[in-house]
Amino acid sequence: MSVISEIKRRKTFAIISHPDAGKTTLTEKLLLYSGAIQIAGAVKSNKIKKSATSDFLEIEKQRGISVATSVLSFDYNNHKINLLDTPGHKDFAEDTYRTLTAVDSVILVVDSVKGVEEQTEKLMQVCRMRNTPVIIFINKLDREGKDPVELLDELESKLSIRVRPLTYPMGKGIQFKGVYNIYKNKFTFFKSNKTKVEEDTIVFEDINDTRLDETFGTDAQKLRQDIELIDGVYENFSVDEYLNGNLAPVFFGSALNNFGVQELLNTFVEISPSPVERETTDGMIQPHNHDFSGFVFKIHSNLDPKHRDRIAFLRVCSGRFERNKFYHHVRLNRQLKFTNPASFMAQSKEVIDEAFPGDVIGLYDSGIFNIGDTLTEGKSFMFKGIPRFSPEVFRVVRNTDPFKSKQMEKGIKFLTDEGLAQLFTQNLGNKKVVGVVGELQFDVMKYRLLNEYGASVEFVNMNAYKAFWIQNNIKTELDYLHSMYSNNLYLDKNNNLVFIAETEYSFQRVREKCPNTIFLSSIEHNDQTIELENVA
Ligand code: G4P
Repeated sequence: MSVISEIKRRKTFAIISHPDAGKTTLTEKLLLYSGAIQIAGAVKSNKIKKSATSDFLEIEKQRGISVATSVLSFDYNNHKINLLDTPGHKDFAEDTYRTLTAVDSVILVVDSVKGVEEQTEKLMQVCRMRNTPVIIFINKLDREGKDPVELLDELESKLSIRVRPLTYPMGKGIQFKGVYNIYKNKFTFFKSNKTKVEEDTIVFEDINDTRLDETFGTDAQKLRQDIELIDGVYENFSVDEYLNGNLAPVFFGSALNNFGVQELLNTFVEISPSPVERETTDGMIQPHNHDFSGFVFKIHSNLDPKHRDRIAFLRVCSGRFERNKFYHHVRLNRQLKFTNPASFMAQSKEVIDEAFPGDVIGLYDSGIFNIGDTLTEGKSFMFKGIPRFSPEVFRVVRNTDPFKSKQMEKGIKFLTDEGLAQLFTQNLGNKKVVGVVGELQFDVMKYRLLNEYGASVEFVNMNAYKAFWIQNNIKTELDYLHSMYSNNLYLDKNNNLVFIAETEYSFQRVREKCPNTIFLSSIEHNDQTIELENVA
């Protein structure tokens, strides 16, 4: 098969949701349809326990499982689908943001009972930054949820995206009868179908077909009114608008009952984008470019503590990747070849000889990769759009075993390379501050530092609101910051100057004093700054 046909048949995406909306359940059902797994329950274990307190054994188990399931590749209707897994726990959201840089589209799951939740909004913001095409699946229709019209309104207002329902439910909770496919004039009856994959449907000429009345009585009329309203309020579905990230098609269903899932999957393979062009420091790179290129979006280390192994996950963006061929590591300006690149098939991992745009490959890494690194066939460009965000929680690192300082330094370097946390070192002084998205990451870090590096640390609370990367050529303002705020100035891993503000109020004061300084709450991993309007 030619590279072009290989590109066309690939669909690389992620399922995202607020925890508990049904991401894991939907993933599993998609795998059932593809035949990649035969029984329900196989993916279920891929979850960190959602309890507030951390269970270390569970985390460790999770790390093992999550590498195997980091990418689930399966074939469906002649397409090769690469489903990139994202952690369920909100404290690992940064990992999800990074994964979103490596996909071409997403399916967003929303719980019909809870509607749009906090994490849903945050994840959508990341999708909006990149104009990622989004399909929305409103889940748990078997429960007494919100009114569908109310849910559609909420999606538009809270997620800042136009929506277009492609299916519409009849009833909800115990009254849930099924969904009507607006464009295909097809009604699919709801029945709980947890393990099998076929669905009962009736196909109509149009919605006025009397068989609807014979089957559903007065509910048929209510459905007609609902559809008339929908058709009046929402513009017709346009695939182009979806592909541009402006319009999200919406499906209703119940992942647990395996209902509405096949419809979702079929539409997904029909309309979702195959690998698209990507922006680099040297302009756009097309997937069908002859030369191979790709970037690292995720690193996992020490799965087996005895071997200190590390896997870098690389998204192939153009050309064909080949095993044992030399490639150019742009940041290090080094030629490297990979003897055991791995691909991921459902839950097994195998060595591959080649990979195409859209694929994700695991490269054994002796510590030479950072997130955001680019590999090419010789050119020196870097892929753009792999952001780091300001952490939400900050703590000062205290070494509790002075004889293990080196181990601590090394451990912190490796764990921050992985993106588990960000390290800031005080500009004048030695204070080390670790910033994370959620508290659980401190527990994981402490545990891993001890178990993988023999280092013992404590994380001490500190008063901090956010970190801002400083972009400044104005000497007077920079001098002012250095003289008045030296305690707030830190260096990140790449020696960029960062201002850690104690409170939102104190930050506003500093901004007033330094009106020409740009304070960024996110920066590219390879330090090409992105959107300036992202200033808080
Ligand atoms: P997540 O990965 O997004 O965190 O969610 P997950 O799939 O684990 O689903 C969260 C809970 O919601 C699970 O229940 C799951 O069974 C349930 N669920 C998912 N889809 C549906 C649906 O369509 N209808 C209903 N009624 N429930 C659904 P749990 O009790 O937390 O876990 P479990 O005991 O079922 O494993």
